[in-house]
Amino acid sequence: MLPETDGLTWGVKDSFREYVTGVSDGAVILEGVNQDDSGRFRFPLADATEFDVESGRGRLRFSGSVQFSAYRGILLVRIREPWITVDEDGGVLSIMHPAYREQTSERSEIATFEPPARSTPERASWSVSSLRLTYDGCRALGEVYPVGTEADPFDFGVVRSPAHPSPDRRVG
Ligand code: HEM
Repeated sequence: MLPETDGLTWGVKDSFREYVTGVSDGAVILEGVNQDDSGRFRFPLADATEFDVESGRGRLRFSGSVQFSAYRGILLVRIREPWITVDEDGGVLSIMHPAYREQTSERSEIATFEPPARSTPERASWSVSSLRLTYDGCRALGEVYPVGTEADPFDFGVVRSPAHPSPDRRVG
């Protein structure tokens, strides 16, 4: 499904969501993030200045945080401020480093993906169908999954700037 507007729409990993919410004290705490009917989280777009909409390359920064907790906090997985960086060789999804409790500029590259194609020519949105956990991504999720495990696919989009209207919408 395509994102309605801008933002990153990602469910992290559906089996992990189901696992956490199935634990008696399991909780998913959202800050600045919405969850859709299928359980996917929408992280708002925070900064697109390093991203080129025409080529779909560069870096997009999203805001918000999703915190999974269970077993009285023994399980604590925080996905905070995800960024996407895409170049010709591929894409990387990073988050604020999970080893820190507070705000930090340290980041952790948790997953990689093939450079995505634009979802449709007239929309500034992209769909990533295959996302693979890195070593750091596996560590962030408790070192249960092997490196290379597929996480949920995701969609991301940026709102087109009025200065660069899509050709088919130009009037006059
Ligand atoms: C008291 C401590 C814990 C207990 C008793 C526990 C128990 C379990 C059990 C029984 C499963 C299998 C669930 C299933 O297949 O239905 C599981 C899976 C899993 N656990 Fe834990 N766990 C604990 C701590 C943690 C911690 C601290 C983390 C990560 C920070 C973690 C991450 C995971 C993950 C990622 C899975 C795989 C979920 C999936 O995709 O199916 N667990 N755990």
